[in-house]
Amino acid sequence: MYNPFSLTGKTILVTGASSGIGRAIAIECSKMDATVVLTGRNKERLNETISQMEREAHTIIVADLNNEDERKKIVDNLPMLDGLVNCAGISGHSLFSFLKKNEIEQMFSINYFSPLYLTQSILKNKKLKKNSSIVFITSTSGILSSYIGGSLYSSTKGALNGMIKGMCIELAPKSIRVNSVMPSMIDTPIMEGGTLSKEDFEKDKEKYPLKRYGKPEEVAYAVIYLLSDASSWVTGSNLLLDGGRSVSY
Ligand SMILES: NC(=O)c1ccc[n+]([C@@H]2O[C@H](COP(=O)([O-])OP(=O)(O)OC[C@H]3O[C@@H](n4cnc5c(N)ncnc54)[C@H](OP(=O)(O)O)[C@@H]3O)[C@@H](O)[C@H]2O)c1
Repeated sequence: MYNPFSLTGKTILVTGASSGIGRAIAIECSKMDATVVLTGRNKERLNETISQMEREAHTIIVADLNNEDERKKIVDNLPMLDGLVNCAGISGHSLFSFLKKNEIEQMFSINYFSPLYLTQSILKNKKLKKNSSIVFITSTSGILSSYIGGSLYSSTKGALNGMIKGMCIELAPKSIRVNSVMPSMIDTPIMEGGTLSKEDFEKDKEKYPLKRYGKPEEVAYAVIYLLSDASSWVTGSNLLLDGGRSVSY
């Protein structure tokens, strides 16, 4: 059946595949017939993701992306890729005036430096095929918005959104496309442990024209578009997914 969004024959690496958005991306890519390499630190949760996936060809590489040797382990064990989804990341709430060096370094390490170095290493080791696609999961935070205590998180995501612009120009001659998906609030475990109560979240959802947060699989559908040949002329874009939040005051 004709389907320009199909991922048949494509092999995709997904970081952060043990939870939330990365898990949904791995599962939905498998439903579109891709073979997926999943990575994260928690083997049990990676296996939970695999148990929900279609087909049996998928593999797991357990690794801490903050660690250079473990990033090398990922790259050394990779097959040739058609797609790379940099999804792993953390959020945080710290007032700008009280930001400490170690928390700045920790947040930048996983949200910015790890995807940068992992992608660089995959490119240097020629593990991305011609016509492949690189996707970064960034955020509306850092481009369109932020929140009290969000200056650090926003900086990391803003930096990634800028980085893809230069990457897109440099990698176009190799026929490699580079894009980001910028979601607003998505219901995942990343929202747990913050300062907002359940009531705060319900009130916040009212600010969205669609009156709800996004679902992880709704981010996955956008990622599938960017990984597929349907987006073969799309590179250097920051794709906004926000349920209309940015146009509603
Ligand atoms: N949820 C939202 O509202 C939202 C909105 C916009 C953007 N985002 C972005 O979307 C991405 C995924 O977020 P999520 O909501 O799905 O969060 P999540 O459910 O907390 O998942 C985070 C993922 O990152 C992985 N990870 C964290 N630190 C890691 C490390 N040092 N090494 C390897 N993997 C690591 C975790 O794997 P392990 O625990 O197994 O290591 C987990 O799979 C993040 O980049 C986030 O900034 C989320």
